[in-house]
Amino acid sequence: MSTLRKACVIGSPVSHSRSPLIHSYWLKKYGITGTYDRVEVLPDQLAAFLQRIRGGELAGCNVTIPLKERAFELVDCTNEQTGKLKSLNTIFMSQGMLCGISTDGAGFMANLADAVKGWSCTSKHVVILGAGGAARALVAALADAGVGGIKIVNRTMTRAEAISTEFQDKVKAHSWDDLTDLLGNADLLINSTSLGMTGQPPLVVSVERLKPEAVVADIVYAPLETELLRRARQLGHRCVDGLGMLMHQAVPGFEKWFGIRPEVTDELREIIAADITGRQAD
Ligand SMILES: NC(=O)c1ccc[n+]([C@@H]2O[C@H](COP(=O)([O-])OP(=O)(O)OC[C@H]3O[C@@H](n4cnc5c(N)ncnc54)[C@H](OP(=O)(O)O)[C@@H]3O)[C@@H](O)[C@H]2O)c1
Repeated sequence: MSTLRKACVIGSPVSHSRSPLIHSYWLKKYGITGTYDRVEVLPDQLAAFLQRIRGGELAGCNVTIPLKERAFELVDCTNEQTGKLKSLNTIFMSQGMLCGISTDGAGFMANLADAVKGWSCTSKHVVILGAGGAARALVAALADAGVGGIKIVNRTMTRAEAISTEFQDKVKAHSWDDLTDLLGNADLLINSTSLGMTGQPPLVVSVERLKPEAVVADIVYAPLETELLRRARQLGHRCVDGLGMLMHQAVPGFEKWFGIRPEVTDELREIIAADITGRQAD
C-alpha cells in the first residue's frame, strides 16, 4: 500500500493560485496517491507551518506572495541561483534538511527551449522589460545560460540598477526612453512587467524595430496571448508565452514531492487555458 504524500501552495491570498490545477492533473495522470491543496498562511504563521514539513506531515509546498523572501530566510539549504535571488517558490526535504529553491528561471528556460526548438542563448543579446522579482530570476538563469548581455528597462531606475550592480558585466540598466533604440540589437525581448496583463495598463513597444529573427517572450499569461505576442506573431517573430513558463516552473516541485519528473503536455495547457479564459469571463 502506498502512503499518501501531501503538498500544497501557501500564501495570502492564495485563492488565485493555479498550482493546484497543475499538480492535481499530474497526480491523476501518474496514478499517484497524493494531494495538493491551497493553504492560507500569514507571515507570522510561516515558521510554524514549515515545521510541519520538517516533521514529515507534508512532502513540501509552493510559496507565493507575501512569503517568498521570508521563506528564503527560514530554509536550511538552497541552490546558487536562489541564493542570489534571496526569494523562493518551492520547498522540499532533502537529506533531513528543509530546502528551498526558486524555479521561475528554470521554468522560463525550459519553456523557451520547448517553444523555440534549437535556439541557443549563447552570446545572445537580451532586452528585459521590468526589474521585479520575476526579472531577477530571468537574469540569473539567462546569465547562467551564457547570454552575451542583458539590458534591463524599468520605470524605477533604482530597481534596474540594483540588478545591474549584482550581475555586473552582463547587465545594464536603462530607462523606458532607451527602449526603442535597444530593440534593433535584441535577439530576445522579454516582458516581465505586469503591463499588458488583464486589468493592467497596456504595454507599448515598437515591435517593428526588432530584427526579423528576434524571439519575443511575455511571462504574462492572462490574457493567454498578450498584445505584445499578438503583434510580434503577426510580424513573423517566434513567440514564447507565459502559460508555458507557469507549467514548466511547477515541474521541479512535483518531482521532489512525488518522485516522478512530470511532463508538460498539450492537455495540461488546455486545462489551464480554459481556467484562465473562464475566470476572465466571470
Ligand atoms: N508565467 C509565469 O510563470 C510567471 C512567473 C512569475 C511572474 N509572472 C508575471 O510576471 C509579472 C511580474 O511579476 P513580478 O513578480 O516580477 O512582479 P513585481 O516584482 O511586482 O514587478 C512588477 C514589474 O512591473 C513593472 N510595472 C508595473 N506596473 C507598471 C507600470 N504601470 N508602468 C511601468 N512598469 C510597471 C514594475 O516596475 P517598477 O519597478 O517601476 O514598479 C516592475 O518592474 C506579473 O504579471 C506576474 O503575474 C509570471
